[in-house]
Amino acid sequence: MPDATPAPSRTLLVTGASRGIGLETARRFLQNDPALTKVFTLARPSHDFDDAVAELRALARPGVEVVRYDVDLGDRAAVIDVVDRVAAEHGNVDLLVNNAGYTKPVPLQQVDFADFERTIAVNLYAPFTFVQELLRRGNRFELIVNIASTAGINGRSGWLTYSASKAAVINMSEVMRSELAIYGTRVACISPGRTATALRRVLAPDEDPATIMQPQDVAEVIEMLASPVGRFVDSANLVVRQ
Ligand SMILES: NC(=O)c1ccc[n+]([C@@H]2O[C@H](COP(=O)([O-])OP(=O)(O)OC[C@H]3O[C@@H](n4cnc5c(N)ncnc54)[C@H](OP(=O)(O)O)[C@@H]3O)[C@@H](O)[C@H]2O)c1
Repeated sequence: MPDATPAPSRTLLVTGASRGIGLETARRFLQNDPALTKVFTLARPSHDFDDAVAELRALARPGVEVVRYDVDLGDRAAVIDVVDRVAAEHGNVDLLVNNAGYTKPVPLQQVDFADFERTIAVNLYAPFTFVQELLRRGNRFELIVNIASTAGINGRSGWLTYSASKAAVINMSEVMRSELAIYGTRVACISPGRTATALRRVLAPDEDPATIMQPQDVAEVIEMLASPVGRFVDSANLVVRQ
């Protein structure tokens, strides 16, 4: 029987940790993973992020560090700078959750090309850059989780830029999964359906958030992937929806 003992110590990097699924993921790992030693939280500077980091630090067991990086993931140079700092100051990232996401839904005729580029930069290039740049610094990942969307499986009217970026995340994750298996790294892609967060309010402003999935539901699946049973989940793209 395969060894199911969790690593003695591990670190977690979560992008988009200021709210929603990312914040809930950081919370759950701090509460439930006894091996966790450091959590690297990333978002742009905001009061939400201040509050999130304060809450996470209060939640952390003694000796567990919550490190904050203020970064706009649409800025590739800034992403590389964060990777440099994480690698130099803290060493290996064992668990990477590429969660941050951006969308500005408009009909095709109104798509602003600069906004399309920004969507691709935040949703696709940033996750790629974290993986590539950390690998180039000798990082050995245990698990990479890329958050895509059901909108990446079936394109939605009015969501062209978002749907296209998420379709690319699903496909990129398959390639990562197959290329990184030789290092013992597992790569999972999660495609959530409707989840009650700020981003969902942008996509569906009239929806009652109480009627849809909550961020905890998605975070729990991420946590499961990092648990001993997660190694038996053999799926390129896990769809999580009501
Ligand atoms: N909610 C849904 O229905 C749903 C469904 C499918 C997939 N998803 C995906 O789930 C992931 C998490 O989203 P969520 O629903 O939890 O939304 P959310 O609550 O709005 O959180 C989005 C996170 O992404 C961060 N972010 C956005 N743009 C950024 C940038 N340029 N630089 C740095 N950070 C940035 C935000 O941080 P700041 O804005 O504070 O910088 C925030 O922490 C996204 O990838 C989203 O596409 C969500």
